[in-house]
Amino acid sequence: MNQFEELYAEFSMMLEKAATAADVAQVKADFVGKKGRVNDIMKGLKDMGPEERKTLGAASNSLKERIIAEIDRFLEDLERRQIDERLSRDWIDVTLSDAVLDKGLSSAGYHPLSLVQREVEDIFISMGFDILDGPHIEDDYHNFEALNIPANHPARDMQDTFWFADLHHLLRTHTSPIQVRGMEAHKPPFKFVGPGKVFRNEALDASHEACFHQIEGMMVGEDISVAHMIHFLKTLLSNIFKREIKVRLRPGYFPFVEPGFELDYECLLCGGKGCSVCKQVGWVEALGCGMVHPRVLEYGRIDPLVHNGFAFGLGLDRLTMMRYGIDDVRHLQDGDLRFVSQFKAY
Ligand code: PHE
Repeated sequence: MNQFEELYAEFSMMLEKAATAADVAQVKADFVGKKGRVNDIMKGLKDMGPEERKTLGAASNSLKERIIAEIDRFLEDLERRQIDERLSRDWIDVTLSDAVLDKGLSSAGYHPLSLVQREVEDIFISMGFDILDGPHIEDDYHNFEALNIPANHPARDMQDTFWFADLHHLLRTHTSPIQVRGMEAHKPPFKFVGPGKVFRNEALDASHEACFHQIEGMMVGEDISVAHMIHFLKTLLSNIFKREIKVRLRPGYFPFVEPGFELDYECLLCGGKGCSVCKQVGWVEALGCGMVHPRVLEYGRIDPLVHNGFAFGLGLDRLTMMRYGIDDVRHLQDGDLRFVSQFKAY
């Protein structure tokens, strides 16, 4: 019997020294394996009487069970220790300052377009607008027809459209289809903005990209006026630039608004003197806007005798360039990390 206790003590010592699962497997084989120490003792007892063999056999079985239970507990413990160790090694303090992170890791930032889009969204949210989304691949109906631009209308040529082979689908040329989808999904009164990418097959230069960004706005209710529209747009621009901005309204033609306007603001890059971004005129076209055309309301199943509203489409690329003093629109697309990483968290 003493032999068993000594063996158990020896086993405990060996197990304590095991550092890996493989070490533990070795200890297990050494003690309770087929050719292990417990079986060795049993072999040495084969000349005993039946009574004695029975007691010793039972004792050796219970020793084996103890050893195996101990090994299982030890393995569980070992696994937990390894997980704890990995957790204490592989972690990042996300509250650390850039200065510390810059020593080895680079910190993430938002693209300036995302920053400006979110800023614009937040301003409109604070004025009670919803945010809507729409697909990049549109159909003729949502991009043109329901916006009062029927087939063969000359206004279709104003927007160099990327058509799909079926000549029915296209990459949306503006965010205005979000107006149509908004009217389909909501009963008046409502007001929402819808940001996103738009696509036009244009020649590229310092201020033109084939893919650019707009945010559409629409408000429909009763007795909405141009004064409401001007109020929301002025609030937007003065919030974005955090100061009084000079603006001018010109008559503008868009088939989906009547009357239609173009709103310009003084170029903030050159202070009105003229530069490549404002095409040397000192003013920047910010957006097209106007009162929603009655036929567009009808397409949206809204009765123009009861409801009316305004809509606008604001270009986000030039707004972003003004906001951050960026002088070439192509910086916004080329993915150069030296450019993007200058803009920090939202
Ligand atoms: N969709 C027009 C454009 O892309 C802008 C616009 C939107 C004009 C809404 C008026 C009303 O140029």
